[in-house]
Amino acid sequence: MGSIYRSAFHASIFQQLKRFWPRAGVLERSVSNVSDLFPGEPSAPKVHTEIPGPNSRKLLQELDAIQNTGAVQFFADYEKSAGNYLADADGNVMLDLYTQIASIPIGYNHPRLLAAVQDKANLSTFVNRPALGCFPPKDLLSRLRGALLDVAPPGLNQVQTMACGACSIEHGQKAMFLTYMRRLRGGADPTEEDMRSCIVNQPPGTPDLSILSFSNGFHGRTMGALAVTHTKPLHKLDFPGPNWPIATFPQLKYPLEDFTTENRAEEDRCLEEVRDLIEKFKKKSPVAGMIIEPIQGEGGDNFATPYFFQGLQDIAQENEIGLLLDEVQTGCGVTGKFWAHEHFNLRDPPDLVTFSKKMLTGGFFFKDQFRSKEPYRIFNTWVGDPAKIVLLEEVVKVIKEQNLLNNVQLTGQKFLSGLQNAQSRYPALLSNARGLGTYCSVDFPSPATRDQAIALLRKKGVHVGACGSSTLRLRPTLVCQPKHVDIFVESFNDILKDVK
Ligand SMILES: Cc1ncc(COP(=O)(O)O)c(C=O)c1O
Repeated sequence: MGSIYRSAFHASIFQQLKRFWPRAGVLERSVSNVSDLFPGEPSAPKVHTEIPGPNSRKLLQELDAIQNTGAVQFFADYEKSAGNYLADADGNVMLDLYTQIASIPIGYNHPRLLAAVQDKANLSTFVNRPALGCFPPKDLLSRLRGALLDVAPPGLNQVQTMACGACSIEHGQKAMFLTYMRRLRGGADPTEEDMRSCIVNQPPGTPDLSILSFSNGFHGRTMGALAVTHTKPLHKLDFPGPNWPIATFPQLKYPLEDFTTENRAEEDRCLEEVRDLIEKFKKKSPVAGMIIEPIQGEGGDNFATPYFFQGLQDIAQENEIGLLLDEVQTGCGVTGKFWAHEHFNLRDPPDLVTFSKKMLTGGFFFKDQFRSKEPYRIFNTWVGDPAKIVLLEEVVKVIKEQNLLNNVQLTGQKFLSGLQNAQSRYPALLSNARGLGTYCSVDFPSPATRDQAIALLRKKGVHVGACGSSTLRLRPTLVCQPKHVDIFVESFNDILKDVK
């Protein structure tokens, strides 16, 4: 049974227990008594201007003279931000449950990260950004061990750092292509013709291969990543893209445990479609690999069950193609396990797992067979940034020392039951409350009602995100605790009565 079922199940069981067995409150107390994971942060939001306020608006006007500012929401004051609270340029302080598009792992200005930056032993790492692939610093290996190999998905021991999410996706795709071609050549060297033709983008050196992706998937905005991204027209319009296969991501009904038969049929239908597409593309652009998020984020927080991912792995193995799980948004503990795919009980590790966001550095883990034999194939000038690896090493230590995965599970249960309770109070407004760990969300009837709810929450100093067409999503830090959930739940219930 997948943990999304379990967390929803536990939340509802807990509510029932409380009704019939008052001592069940003991669990709740022990949860809220977890010691403070970020001492010294504000105790509540504080809003004294509209947001964006006058300072933000002035800065916005000036910035707009030199670049497009359409996405800017407000200017932040990072110096004054602490833990789960984000300060803005007008002195407002918001409880941040969106955290820089899901990318702050252990809160703003975490003392351990400030100490790492101030540590003289780390100075040269912060000051000199090396071409890591050519001139790695002598402590790189120990840093990689502490920051990345220590938390590698079980069974994967190869790792490559990169700059950002999209850059990691692009290189993960290249690793799948070159592995596929190496297999086709049976280990033989490329021919003279291969070498000549690839320079001018012609076959056989530039083969007509494809990557299979899924409807509503999001993997980034650079050209290769964009080719497998299928969310908003705004991201895609006017940019050339290859005619690669796109399979349907299962459209499941929530709560998942109430619709097991329908959901299983939907997942079987989607798996069949994947098989058909691979077959269909064999003649024209054979599929060299598949790419999928364990839980779709930007596309609307869409879940599929472990059964679906196990089926995909079977298909990948039957066809000898790669399976890349994009954990850019789901990785680093947000689902209560370090990697979301650990909930799937896969028979084998996934072939490649990309990361970024809360991991602070981009990159991907991969199986030996996806390793390039030649240098400079998976490469760029910096291939990441050792300064970020120093910070990540500290983040990983804090996650372990403070048992933050446990905190995510407890906090996530509370978020989910908060959303479920609100949904039962406002059934015409909210649907599909769902979540795994703190990766929680709920749907509104329209984009306009969702956006209105987000705007009303912001007036109360609670900052949340949007995804899909009409979904409100929560992406808090790993140090977000039940006491923060209480603030969210109170504000959420309060604003819902005004959403029209
Ligand atoms: C699942 C997933 N993959 C890839 C990306 C792209 O990452 P970046 O914005 O760092 O390029 C994102 C960004 O939101 C993402 O959510």
